[in-house]
Amino acid sequence: RRKVIIDCDPGIDDALALMLALKSEELDVVGITVCSGNVPARMGAKNALKVLELCEKTQVPVYVGEEVPLERELVTAQDTHGEDGLGEMFYKGVEESFIHEDGVQFILDTLRKEEKVSIIALGPLTNIAKALMQDEEAFGYLDEFISMGGAYRIHGNCSPVAEFNYWVDPHAADYTYQHLPRKIHMIGLDVTRKIVLTPNLIEFINRLDEKLATFITEITRFYIDFHWQQEGIIGCVINDPLAVAYFIDRNLCQGFESSVEVVTEGIAVGQSIVDSENFYKRQPNAIINVSVDEKQFMSLFLKKLFVGYEG
Ligand code: BDR
Ligand code: CA
Repeated sequence: RRKVIIDCDPGIDDALALMLALKSEELDVVGITVCSGNVPARMGAKNALKVLELCEKTQVPVYVGEEVPLERELVTAQDTHGEDGLGEMFYKGVEESFIHEDGVQFILDTLRKEEKVSIIALGPLTNIAKALMQDEEAFGYLDEFISMGGAYRIHGNCSPVAEFNYWVDPHAADYTYQHLPRKIHMIGLDVTRKIVLTPNLIEFINRLDEKLATFITEITRFYIDFHWQQEGIIGCVINDPLAVAYFIDRNLCQGFESSVEVVTEGIAVGQSIVDSENFYKRQPNAIINVSVDEKQFMSLFLKKLFVGYEG
């Protein structure tokens, strides 16, 4: 089992990604760190606890990390994910006292203590950049780093060119790309926009199981309405679970190596500049994924979440 820290900002699709990670026997989730993004970090941490409770994995520790981006003011996505970050279901009953402090320190300690830990980042890269700034050497022990974020040959979802996670904290995103001593596996909008959870699929999963399916149905309702109103899409794009699935099965996506820089100011703030033609003659610092087998993803996602489903 591969050890992994999930750094996230739950968030509806983060919640689905957490469920996938917790339900996959290939992964040993050693901790969940939360930063502000879709919702403020403390709210996100509560949502992570809710998912742990649902998956009966409350032994996994949840750490709250950075509550504001490095330089920009925090802009959340509560219009997309709901006031509470989970589709305005306003779930009760999670014990906030279970939230640990100092996610950044947890990341550094874990990298130094455990052998071969990977990080899957599903939100803005504020916690990661802060950890790198404090102790870059610790990242020498990091195994792999997957980041859901950025966009290469597709329009953004916050501006014509910027994807949300990198747009919320562009300084952290760029710092991470420039300093991480590993190539970042970028799971950007080019691939995640192809992953759509449709009402049909939701109806289908309700025939497989009750507990998880009910939760998924509840939290995605708001998200589905948002997609219909904003984009005329029937169903919701679920970005984050693809990053987890790709960590489990590398054949899901195909890409190429390139150098990447994230724009930190001006009209293109948050844009990931992928130098696919090698104009700048820099060493590649990322693997840019550009194609995905969406059917294979969905089959993996359903198999992991719903025991007995064979694909
Ligand atoms: C990313 O932004 C968030 O709203 C989602 O959780 C995902 O991580 C997609 O741009
Ligand atoms: Ca997210």
